[in-house]
Amino acid sequence: VERVFSGVQPTGNLHLGNYLGAIVNFVKLQETHNCLYCVVDLHAITQPVEVWGGPAELARNTREVTAAFIASGIDPNKHIVFNQSQVYEHAELAWIFNCVARVGWLNRMTQFKDKAGKDREAASVGLYDYPVLMAADILVYRATHVPVGEDQKQHLELSRDIAQKFNNDFGESIRRHGFNDGLFFPQPEPLITGPATRVMSLRDGTKKMSKSDASDNSRINLTDDADTIAQKIRKAKTDPEPLPSEEKGLEARPEADNLVGIYAALSGRSKAEVLRDFGGGQFSGFKNSLVELCVSKLSPIASEMKRLVADPGHVDSILVDGADRARAIAAETMQATKDIVGFVSRR
Ligand code: AQP
Repeated sequence: VERVFSGVQPTGNLHLGNYLGAIVNFVKLQETHNCLYCVVDLHAITQPVEVWGGPAELARNTREVTAAFIASGIDPNKHIVFNQSQVYEHAELAWIFNCVARVGWLNRMTQFKDKAGKDREAASVGLYDYPVLMAADILVYRATHVPVGEDQKQHLELSRDIAQKFNNDFGESIRRHGFNDGLFFPQPEPLITGPATRVMSLRDGTKKMSKSDASDNSRINLTDDADTIAQKIRKAKTDPEPLPSEEKGLEARPEADNLVGIYAALSGRSKAEVLRDFGGGQFSGFKNSLVELCVSKLSPIASEMKRLVADPGHVDSILVDGADRARAIAAETMQATKDIVGFVSRR
């Protein structure tokens, strides 16, 4: 059975984009793959401390993301749910990958440019190195499939380049260690699937919905109550035209396209089907139905999350158990990697 790895950062404000772009796919893949789902706390601290909120927030958000995974339907008994910092091998393999990846490759990463903003000199070295740690997250489990949103595509390509260069640089040693095809690390494939791989901001249909947007009205948080969801959707930016009857009519109407896309994703239908019901109508009627749909899908998740985070001891025990099981796999890859590179170690 193929192995899946993916992660979500505990940086607060888990939103509908994270849910539809990532978590929904995580849940589905449980039927066909062995899955590891990670709360990537080492990634969270690459941002300035004001962004991730400091120690108490980090711990709170780590438990909240864990609760969101479980409340959405991820089974921590059948699959592995854990937080990254408990499995040291992620950071250890990232160091070796730092020596495989090239500065020129990292210089092309658009997420670093976006997140660093104008003052790149002030960004943390960790933010620059983020995609290398991400490659280690995936490859320490030799995972072959990575469900992510559209925004992570470039990072996945970098993971593939790192895997390939490692296999090339150490090909002979890899063969000597019993991998006759010379391939130690697989080429992980992104799974960018579903109708909502890129959910956009409710205030601006050309910007992705994001945790760090200053306006809370730009996103629907998984913890929003029914009134808040209703208010945000009713205030969502639209244009003055009625909804089109065909998908073609959504071109050049980013806000309409986004809302129809959200409806389609939440109802498990295509945009064309949604437009068959709502095409020709005004946004107000459509928005009322969208509120109803959103609340009916998200409120059971929100209340289960609330129940889970009320018992942090229980959530922590899930993470510890997951970390133990993850480490059993990661330690094996790490030892083989060290042997391949030529590090002398205790036997
Ligand atoms: N708007 C989105 N649409 C679809 N998928 C999305 N993802 C994020 N935003 C959208 C996917 O969610 C997963 C987890 O994301 P992350 O926690 O690693 O953080 P991120 O991508 O940095 O999330 P944000 O909300 O966009 O945060 P900021 O504001 O910090 O940039 C990933 O699979 C991601 O693709």
